[in-house]
Amino acid sequence: MNETRATGGSYWIETAPGGTPYPPLDTDTQADVVVVGAGIAGLSAARELARAGRSVVVVEAGRIAQGVTGHTTAKLTALHSLSYVQLTRTRDAEAAHLYARSQTDALEHAAAVVEDLGIDCDWERVPAYTYLRDTSRTGELRAEAEAARAAGLPAEFVRETGLPYPVAGAVRLADQVQFHPRKYLLALVDDLLAHGGKIYEHTTVTGLDEGEPCRVTTDTGVTVTARDVVVATHYPIFDRALLFTRLAIHRELVVAAPIPADRDPQGMYITPELNTRSVRTAPYEDGRRLLIVTGESFTPGAEDTPARFDKLAEWARQHFPGITITHRWAAQDTDPTDQVPMVGRLHPRASHAYVATGFGGWGMSGGIMAGRLLTSQITGDPLPWSSLYDPTRLLSAVRQAPEFLHHQAKVARHFVGDRLRPPQVKDVSEIEPGSGAVVRVDGERCAVYRDERGEAHAVSARCTHLGCLVAFNGAERTWECPCHGSRFDTDGKVIQGPATRPLGQRKV
Ligand SMILES: Cc1cc2nc3c(=O)[nH]c(=O)nc-3n(C[C@H](O)[C@H](O)[C@H](O)COP(=O)(O)OP(=O)(O)OC[C@H]3O[C@@H](n4cnc5c(N)ncnc54)[C@H](O)[C@@H]3O)c2cc1C
Ligand code: FES
Repeated sequence: MNETRATGGSYWIETAPGGTPYPPLDTDTQADVVVVGAGIAGLSAARELARAGRSVVVVEAGRIAQGVTGHTTAKLTALHSLSYVQLTRTRDAEAAHLYARSQTDALEHAAAVVEDLGIDCDWERVPAYTYLRDTSRTGELRAEAEAARAAGLPAEFVRETGLPYPVAGAVRLADQVQFHPRKYLLALVDDLLAHGGKIYEHTTVTGLDEGEPCRVTTDTGVTVTARDVVVATHYPIFDRALLFTRLAIHRELVVAAPIPADRDPQGMYITPELNTRSVRTAPYEDGRRLLIVTGESFTPGAEDTPARFDKLAEWARQHFPGITITHRWAAQDTDPTDQVPMVGRLHPRASHAYVATGFGGWGMSGGIMAGRLLTSQITGDPLPWSSLYDPTRLLSAVRQAPEFLHHQAKVARHFVGDRLRPPQVKDVSEIEPGSGAVVRVDGERCAVYRDERGEAHAVSARCTHLGCLVAFNGAERTWECPCHGSRFDTDGKVIQGPATRPLGQRKV
């Protein structure tokens, strides 16, 4: 089966679609805090702030919890692949300790919220594993287990896992959580509304005036005035601290298939091998489990996305024989050059504008942590790990130079190199129905998609964020920018930022 044809999209959205949409914001309004973006970071912050007695307005460009958070794999853990050795290297032992503490605090805080509100969100305590199959790399696992223990986590090196294939070894951290992110967040939203919060959907924020009070402006010109602003748009749409120079972006694919309950590997697994493979399960129909496999990390705009889906599904079938893929989806996350999310003041001179970004593939614990951290800062009682996550922290030039320079070189390569490359096709007539390509029309590069009826949809290929050229994702039929990950539909409408403006319409 060609996996680009699996019928279901995100399992989380399918099984918790949510109710009637919230209205768009159509009149100027005010609040103590305006939260821009309703993913796990924004909604966690909004709910914590409302509970702390603040009046809160949430403004969301699309639907709540349907961005990256609606397409995650929702492992809630403090074990983040092989991060503790790395953290101790790029920062120091104290940073690794605070990181472990803050991520564990987020997990236990969410557990308390689930308990208090009686949330039914398929909350399951299971061990988390980071494994390798390459026997020559077991030293890395032992070192990671040791670094995680030094950071305060009860991690251990093990040889046995619940996976149906052999591994060389694994780092195991007991008592972590897999859950249903949308069931959890929709319950959080009910609690937010019960505490006076307001939500507006289909309202894109385009401007920020950092006065006292601050004012955010939407695409229709309506404003929200608030003392404090939280920018939780995944990739920051406002960036006076030039965070984009320190944030790379990677996109990942997910395939899912039902399995009998007795084949459940009883844990959450990840390996950095094979360009990442992650495995978990979730409750499914008829007492079965849904196997969820994630991997094939790549830069947005890669032209071989359909082939990558097939490769991931083939891996799932090889390792869990007899399965039929029923769902597939994709999403992307931001990777800070020093592995630590950026949560706190938006730039060095900001006094009322905050940001939460850079979760590096671990935004479940990271988003919940961000909600707590930003609330503590806004209410004037900062948590001990504030400076660890400070977005304006100085880079340690020596330790982070390789990651930073690599990221800069990659963006420069796209910005300059993509312009020098000859267009993918010479003429619009070469584009097949159902596919898209960048083509030169009257001296300008245009992104042209031909729909199934043969009609061409042409937009400017120049990304409205900072001007890199977009490329076509054939599996999802979107235009994607390789520089910072903005995504557009085939008519140029923004699906995902940091861009806030559509691609310009063109005629071909
Ligand atoms: C495939 C995949 C699997 C993952 N698995 C895990 C996992 O197992 N465990 C884990 O911890 N993490 C995981 N992650 C990471 C995690 O899902 C993300 O870090 C997290 O969901 C990000 O949440 P967010 O709130 O920052 O972003 P989002 O959920 O994207 O929310 C941002 C919101 O802002 C809105 N927005 C954007 N621009 C504007 C604007 N101009 N105006 C108004 N609103 C705007 C968007 O529409 C969106 O709803 C995974 C990531 C991927 C890609
Ligand atoms: S997302 Fe930054 S240039 Fe396109």
